[in-house]
Amino acid sequence: MKGSHFARTRRRSSEATVMLCPLLGACLWAAVLGYKPVVVVHGLFDSSEDFINLKRFINQSHPGTNVTVIDLFDRSSSLQPMWKQVEGFKAAIYPIMQNAADGVNLICYSQGGLVCRGILSTLSDHNVHSFISLSAPQAGQYGDTDYFKVFPQFVKSNLYHFCYTGVGQLISICNYWNDPHHRDLYLNNSEYLALLNSERPNPNSTEWKKNFLKIQKLVLIGGPDDGVITPWQSSQFGFYDDNETVVEMQHQDLYLKDVFGLKTLVARGDLIFCSVPGVEHVWWHSNETVFHTCIEKWLL
Ligand SMILES: *[C@@H]1O[C@H](CO)[C@@H](O)[C@H](O)[C@H]1NC(C)=O
Ligand SMILES: *[C@@H]1O[C@H](CO)[C@@H](O)[C@H](O)[C@H]1NC(C)=O
Ligand SMILES: *[C@@H]1O[C@H](CO)[C@@H](O)[C@H](O)[C@H]1NC(C)=O
Ligand SMILES: *[C@@H]1O[C@H](CO)[C@@H](O)[C@H](O)[C@H]1NC(C)=O
Ligand SMILES: *[C@@H]1O[C@H](CO)[C@@H](O)[C@H](O)[C@H]1NC(C)=O
Ligand SMILES: *[C@@H]1O[C@H](CO)[C@@H](O)[C@H](O)[C@H]1NC(C)=O
Repeated sequence: MKGSHFARTRRRSSEATVMLCPLLGACLWAAVLGYKPVVVVHGLFDSSEDFINLKRFINQSHPGTNVTVIDLFDRSSSLQPMWKQVEGFKAAIYPIMQNAADGVNLICYSQGGLVCRGILSTLSDHNVHSFISLSAPQAGQYGDTDYFKVFPQFVKSNLYHFCYTGVGQLISICNYWNDPHHRDLYLNNSEYLALLNSERPNPNSTEWKKNFLKIQKLVLIGGPDDGVITPWQSSQFGFYDDNETVVEMQHQDLYLKDVFGLKTLVARGDLIFCSVPGVEHVWWHSNETVFHTCIEKWLL
């Protein structure tokens, strides 16, 4: 049943493609093979409506692509704990994967980039081809920005008092709050990022690394004018040392020890950095230059 449904939907989208662009080789190729479905996971305080432009860009460059923006944990629900979001998004994405014989591509924006990393680490039979991380705080967050006004009584220097507690860990932001001046508290209390990075003892780290490394490409997109992700290099696994000097990924322990596979990906030639200046945080998914420079070619 599943197989025949799949063949039918593929044929339908292929016919549409041929009608749209009968003269273009790329489109004919798409008609024969089909582009992989794209799944989009949104970030903090967003919802699926924020991705209309991205859907348009994909439809224009790769007509016929089936794009699904997962409509879960919208707006203030996006403050729910990260593991809960991982389970929710995973349940929604898994059937899409099962319907996609050639695999899917994932575009995960902002906090969604960390949700996706949780899914990829804990789902042993995922078939994600490109994991596109769009300005996501992959190495954590340490900065006061508009997004963090949910905690009006705190600033970055004292938010650890709240975040590194049992109650704090019920809020998504605290799950990846990474205070470089309170490393011990982070290691002891972060129930998400420290575990995902195996910075905290994780009995499943070997398994998680194996799962994560099933991706074919990791594309890390970010830029210096982001204004929300702090430091912006966190989008590419750079982070502050205890002097708040940014240490690039290549000098981070989690890279050097290949804790979850970053070094393996580099050795395989499958880790791509794409840095773009002049883009504020809320524009990453709607900026056509970003799409053409950093995303388009990884959606095959
Ligand atoms: C894709 O583009 C075509 C041609 O511009 C348009 O007719 C179609 O409605 C678009 N599909 C989506 C899902 O945006
Ligand atoms: C697009 O993908 C979704 C999720 O797998 C599926 O329900 C839907 O039927 C697909 N649409 C088309 C036109 O193939
Ligand atoms: C972290 O946990 C260990 C073991 O439970 C404890 O000895 C240590 O004091 C904790 N450190 C902090 C900063 O809470
Ligand atoms: C490790 O995996 C097991 C089995 O999948 C699971 O029950 C357990 O919660 C995982 N441990 C952690 C720390 O996530
Ligand atoms: C931090 O800064 C101090 C004073 O500038 C310096 O002595 C120290 O070596 C620095 N530490 C690191 C880890 O760079
Ligand atoms: C889109 O990105 C380009 C840089 O590639 C930048 O110059 C431009 O200002 C951006 N536009 C918006 C609306 O962010």
